[in-house]
Amino acid sequence: MILKMRIGKANIEKLSRASLVLATIAVALLAAGFSSGVYAADHIKGRELYDRNCSVCHGPTGQSVMPGAPNLARGEGMLKPDFTLLASIRAGRNAMPAYQGILSDRDIMDVIAYVRTLH
Ligand code: HEC
Repeated sequence: MILKMRIGKANIEKLSRASLVLATIAVALLAAGFSSGVYAADHIKGRELYDRNCSVCHGPTGQSVMPGAPNLARGEGMLKPDFTLLASIRAGRNAMPAYQGILSDRDIMDVIAYVRTLH
């Protein structure tokens, strides 16, 4: 009887330790979820950055004004995942200058979010 109680107690302790771990994971996931909201791309800031840095070639509305620059409003060059575009813009591509050191990755992601709203 005493032995049974001991085992029972040990199991309960194990269980409560496991639920503590689960609760910690749940809190961490929740915190990550909330903070990811803070890092969501800001297409309003993206617009300002686009006007200043990109519109000279890709046009103020995404209709390119430079021969060879894709028409972003028609989605040219945009059928790629954000991280591929980030890499292109960061490193530059042929006639397009590199933006590494000029725009942060966060800025570039904001610009990409804005460009995705152009039609
Ligand atoms: C000096 C002119 C110029 C400027 C400024 C410029 N681009 Fe470009 N961009 C180009 C040209 C030209 C290409 C086509 C490059 C190629 O593939 O040969 C291009 C390509 C692209 C592509 C397609 C990339 C790919 O992987 O196919 C995207 C997206 C893009 N530009 C976005 C931007 C954004 C956003 C900015 C501002 C941060 C910007 N560009 C600034 C000229 C420019």
